[in-house]
This record gives sequence, C-alpha cells and structure tokens, in this order.
Amino acid sequence: MTNIHSDKILILDFGAQYTQLIARRVRELGVYCEIWAWDHDPAEIAAFAPKGIIFSGGPESTTLVDAPKAPQQAFDADVPILGICYGMQTLAAQLGGATEAAEAREFGHASVDIVAPSQLFDGLSDHADAHRLDVWMSHGDHVSKAPPGFVVTGTTERIPVAVMENAEKRWYGVQFHPEVTHTKQGSALLKRFITDICGCATLWTAANIIDDQIARVREQVGEDHVLLGLSGGVDSSVVAALLHKAIGDRLTCVFVDTGLLRWQEGDQVMATMAEHMGVKVIRVNAADRYFTALEGEADPEAKRKIIGRLFVEIFDEESEKLIAHGGKVKWLAQGTIYPDVIESAGSKTGKAHVIKSHHNVGGLPEHMKLKLVEPLRELFKDEVRRIGVALGLPREMVYRHPFPGPGLGVRILGEVKREYAELLARADAIFIEELRKADLYDKTSQAFAVFLPVKSVGVVGDARAYEWVVALRAVETIDFMTAHWAHLPYEFLGKVSNRIINEIRGISRVVYDISGKPPATIEWE
Ligand code: XMP
Repeated sequence: MTNIHSDKILILDFGAQYTQLIARRVRELGVYCEIWAWDHDPAEIAAFAPKGIIFSGGPESTTLVDAPKAPQQAFDADVPILGICYGMQTLAAQLGGATEAAEAREFGHASVDIVAPSQLFDGLSDHADAHRLDVWMSHGDHVSKAPPGFVVTGTTERIPVAVMENAEKRWYGVQFHPEVTHTKQGSALLKRFITDICGCATLWTAANIIDDQIARVREQVGEDHVLLGLSGGVDSSVVAALLHKAIGDRLTCVFVDTGLLRWQEGDQVMATMAEHMGVKVIRVNAADRYFTALEGEADPEAKRKIIGRLFVEIFDEESEKLIAHGGKVKWLAQGTIYPDVIESAGSKTGKAHVIKSHHNVGGLPEHMKLKLVEPLRELFKDEVRRIGVALGLPREMVYRHPFPGPGLGVRILGEVKREYAELLARADAIFIEELRKADLYDKTSQAFAVFLPVKSVGVVGDARAYEWVVALRAVETIDFMTAHWAHLPYEFLGKVSNRIINEIRGISRVVYDISGKPPATIEWE
C-alpha cells in the first residue's frame, strides 16, 4: 500500500495565528505535514525526514535578544526551507542579514514587484503588464538586508525585501502570507514550493487517508473489540464510519440520548448510523435521568458539570455491561483531531506560547483499563469532513454547525425543564430548516435558538396569551474565538418568527441577538 506519509513537510511554528492555515493549505495540495513548536526537540528533525521545512510567522521580533530562533538542525537537514513573515525575518537574522522595526505595522493588501528571476514566482503573476503579485501583509518588522547568498527577488513600495531567495541552498523567504486567500497566488506559491522545489508527491487524498487509517486500525486492534461514544457530532460519526469499515461488528457504539439534543436528533443518529450504515449502536434513552439530575439547578457551570458527570456515569455503566458480558472490548475509540493534539503538545522548553490542554487528549478513567484508538489524530476538521463524505455519511450531517457538549442544557437559561427543552428544540428546528431553505445555513458558522425563561404578553387569536420568549442567534466566525452576528435579511427573520409563533404553542415572542463576540459569547450561558 502507498505510504502516504513518505513525502512530508515540517512546519515550525513561531506562534502565528495563521500556522494551522499553512498546514491546511499544504494538506489541501495533497501533502502530509506536521506542526511542531519552534523549540520542539530538534534532534527529532532528522528522524522525521521532511522533504521541506516551513518557518511560520509569529508575534515576536528578531530584534530582541531572546527572540525565537530556528534550530541549526533545520538548516543541516539539507532540504528546501520557506520562511513566511517572522519565519523570513529569522532566516535573515540567523544567516547574516538584517531586520528592522518599521514605524507602523503594515496590515492588508500590497503589491509585490518581482524584480529578478525567481524560482518561487516565475510564471506566476496577477498582472498582464508587469511581474507583480497581489498579496496580504501583516507585520511590524521587516528584512532590511538579505543575508549573503540570497538575492532579493521581490520588493514593495514600503519594504525593500519582500521576497528573498537562495537558489543554491533552496532557502526562501516571503514577507507576505501565502496561506491566506487574499494572496491570490498563495496556493500556487505553496504548490511551487512543496511539489516543484521539495519534490513531494501528492498522496494525501481522502481515499488514501481512509485506506491508510483502516490498515492502521486493523493492525493496532487486531481481533479485539472497540467501544465508541457516539454523540451525533461530526468527529464521533466519522470515527464510527471509519472503524465500522475497518473492523465491522467488532465496533460497538454507545449513544446517550440526553433529551438535550436537537429536534429528533436521536432518531436521526440511529437512522444514519445503525439502520443505514449497519453500525452496532446501543441507544440509551437517558432523558429522565438528565431532567431529574438538573432539577432546581440554574447555574450554568453547575449544569455543565451535572451533564458531563452523568454522561461519564452512563457511558461507564454501558461499557461495564459490555465488558462483563463479552469480555472482548479492549479499546476505546475517540474522535481526537489534530488541532487538539497540537494544543496539548505545547512545547518542550515551555518557551513557546502556553496553550490550554484539551479534554479529549490525556487518557482514560483508570478503572476502565481500555487502550485508546484515535483514528482522526492526524486530521484537521476539514479533512475529517472530507473523509466523512467519502465514507458515505450524509453531507448534511458532516457539515453541520458545531453543537456544544451540554447541548440544549446551556441554551435554556437557568433551570432546565423537559417542557422548555421540547419547545426550544422545535423552535431551533424551524430556524435551521428555514436557513437551509434560504441557502443561508452554510453562510453562517453557527445558528441556533435560545430559550428565555421569561413570559411576555401576546395575543393569540382573540385571546391574550402570556407565554415564553425565544432568542435567535446566528454568527459568522472563522475560529469561534471572535464572531460577528450574522446580518440575516429582515424578511427571513420575519418568516422564522412567524413560523415559530404560529406553530409552537407556548412561544409568543421571538427576538434576534445582535451582539458580537467579544464581549458576548456565542452561547448565552
Ligand atoms: P462561546 O459561547 O464560548 O462558544 O463563545 C464558542 C464555541 O464553543 C461552543 N461551546 C461549547 N462546546 N461544551 C462544548 O462542547 C461547552 O460547554 C461549550 N460552550 C460553548 C459553542 O457552541 C461555540 O461553538
């Protein structure tokens, strides 16, 4: 079988916001890559054997004494290097060139003139009458003098060295960001670097990833049985589909229906996974237990804890039953994905930016004594989605908006009651259905309804009604750390509001949330 990891790129991360984007672009071009913190043990570089190395951007300044530096082993690896932004500046600073701080940060569009023959850019231009590229800049410092052996091949009005190349060593630096789509030739440049210059074959495709993972899972678990907690979310559904393909009936999924899921979600999960795909799924209808456990609790964090604890309890009960009966379950599958792994890895010296550890990585409850199988560990979310579709999961499921673990539990403000959950799930379903019909679902990053436990006066027919309020929330965001409220058309909002009020008895008022994050979070609790 093809070794899809044979041709790979190493990305040394200097802390840029865009590092994962670089990796996703490289992967989209069909080449496997990994992100390591800049101070990752450099002795591992030789064993990793990348065919090229990319130095990412970063928030630091090479003009400071203890600025992060690329390890000597990266230069000794004798493979092409591409420095982006800070990565270019550190190339210059470490190899005998110079950098300086500018009077003002440069952020936004810029034009780069290619002023000398360029391995990176020959044949690539955005203008018919000049060898010029439209790019995206985001930097404070810049390179003021290229190091010996480098030729300045690109300049802009503001900076003397926008591109520098050492053709003999195959070391390159670009001040702009090829990984963002605003740089029109960005993908072409990365392709030039990883395929033409580094010589990587493009083996990283959905079909190859699936074959590779199936082989690896089979090798890892042998004849053992595997247990998986299915949530209805993208990651666990893709793990289920992949493992089912790899080991068939030796996979058992436990799906806990908390009563706090989206409208009819429990039935949908069963229909897709169990009936359609033939995956063995044990459905635990635990709504009563959840509503009882949540009775009287209004504090959001306390509710989260109750919901989380109950999930672990129920999952443990089910696994113990399975283990007691068959005794063959030796593995627990998890939907850990690559960003979780990067975040948890941090850096060896602790000098790289400290990042939170993720709850998905870090082991199992001791008493379960199960080993971990994590077939999505190498994949970004967009890759998980692509292989999900390739494995036959419905697009609609795979491209669903994210849904928080505690579900409707944090979308019902204050105390959670069965009656509220039902009203909310129905209102939410109407909102989502209309978004899909109006072709707006994929244009928003996350959209949902929130139940407000306040009553307001309304008139239903001829009578006065005194009923609940629902808020609609829709946001656009790239990373969910900041978000804009979605500017949904008034006519659309009017239609959703009418439908909710007319179709759901018990709701007489609908409001739209127009708060940005920050300061408002996406969820209301
Ligand atoms: P906030 O509300 O913090 O949400 O702006 C950012 C993203 O995280 C999701 N979220 C959660 N996901 N458990 C989860 O699994 C939680 O407790 C939780 N709280 C928020 C939220 O839906 C959004 O996508």
